[in-house]
Amino acid sequence: MPRLSGKLVRHARRVSPFLPPLLPANRDINRALLELKWIKEELPRRSWVSAVNRRLELEPLQYILGSQPFGDLSIICRNGVLIPRWETEEWCTKLGNLLSEKEFTSLDIVDACTGSGCVPILLGHKLVTKSASTKICGFDVSVEAITLAQDNLTLYKSSHMDSSCEVSFQRGDITDLSLVPKLHIQNITLVTANPPYIPLQDYRKSVLRNGVERSVRLHEPELALIGSTEPYQQLIKNLVIPSGAEGFVFEVGYFNQIQTVCQSLDENWVVGYMNDSANRVRCAVGWKLNTDFEILARLCDKVLLK
Ligand SMILES: C[S@@+](CC[C@H](N)C(=O)[O-])C[C@H]1O[C@@H](n2cnc3c(N)ncnc32)[C@H](O)[C@@H]1O
Repeated sequence: MPRLSGKLVRHARRVSPFLPPLLPANRDINRALLELKWIKEELPRRSWVSAVNRRLELEPLQYILGSQPFGDLSIICRNGVLIPRWETEEWCTKLGNLLSEKEFTSLDIVDACTGSGCVPILLGHKLVTKSASTKICGFDVSVEAITLAQDNLTLYKSSHMDSSCEVSFQRGDITDLSLVPKLHIQNITLVTANPPYIPLQDYRKSVLRNGVERSVRLHEPELALIGSTEPYQQLIKNLVIPSGAEGFVFEVGYFNQIQTVCQSLDENWVVGYMNDSANRVRCAVGWKLNTDFEILARLCDKVLLK
C-alpha cells in the first residue's frame, strides 16, 4: 500500500482536524469527507474522536457506526460477526422478490451460516404479505452471531409489528452429521447459505492480488471467511439431502464451488448459477425436478447439464 503524501495529509488537516485519521482507510479526501459526514450524522459529538481513531486502525465503519443497510432494513453490526455485504443483499433481494410472486404448497426455509441474521430477516420481510404461513430458521456455529441475529430480529419486530412470517435463530453446525433433527424447523423446503468460502491462500493475499482487504483480515472473524469447497459438500450432505429440501441458494466466490455443488447431487437435481451485478459468479442455485422450486431457474444466468 503506497504511503500517503504529506501534502494530502496537510490538506486534510486544513479541511478538518478529524479528517487525517480517516485517510489511511479511504486514501482520498472525498471518501474521507463522506465518512466524516456519516460519523457526525450518526454518532454523538463525544464519540467523534474515538470513531476516527478506530478508523485509523482500519476498523470497518459499520462496526463503528453499529449498522449496515441491507435491502430496506438496517442490520446491527458488532465486532465478532461478519458485516453483511452488497453481494448477499443483491441475491437475497432477488430471491425474496421471486418467492413472493408464487403461492407455494409449503415454504419453510433454513438459512445456514446465518451470521447477523440478515438473510432470514430480509426474506421474512419480503414474504410478509404471503397468505401461507412461512417459517424461516437461521443457524450458526458462533454464539456471538446467534446473539446478534436475535438482537436484529428484536429490532426488526419493534418496527414491523404486523410481521406474520415466523423467523427464529438457533445454534447449529454444518459439519454435524445429525444436524437436521436438531433444527427447530421441520419440513424444510428451501435452504439458503453464505458459508465461509475464501481459500486460505487467497485470504492471505492483498486486495491488489485478488485477496482480502487488510481491514477485513484485521477486524472481521476468520471463522466467517476462510473456507473452500468443504462447506458446500457439508451443506448438501448434512442439510439439503437429509432434510428433503427441494431447492437451495448458496453464495459462492469461485466457479469450482459451483462444480462441487453440482457433483454432490444426483440426477433428480438441476444446478445453475447466478452472477452478481459486477459480473462475478455469486450463487449456486439448485432445485429438484417437478417441484415448486423449478421457479429458481429464473434466478440463474446459466443452468448446468449434469
Ligand atoms: C460468510 S459468513 C455469512 C454471514 C451472513 N449469512 C451474511 O451473509 O452476512 C459465514 C458464517 O458462517 C458461520 N460458520 C462458520 N463455520 C460454520 C459451521 N461449521 N456451521 C455453521 N456456521 C458456520 C460463521 O460463524 C459466519 O457467521
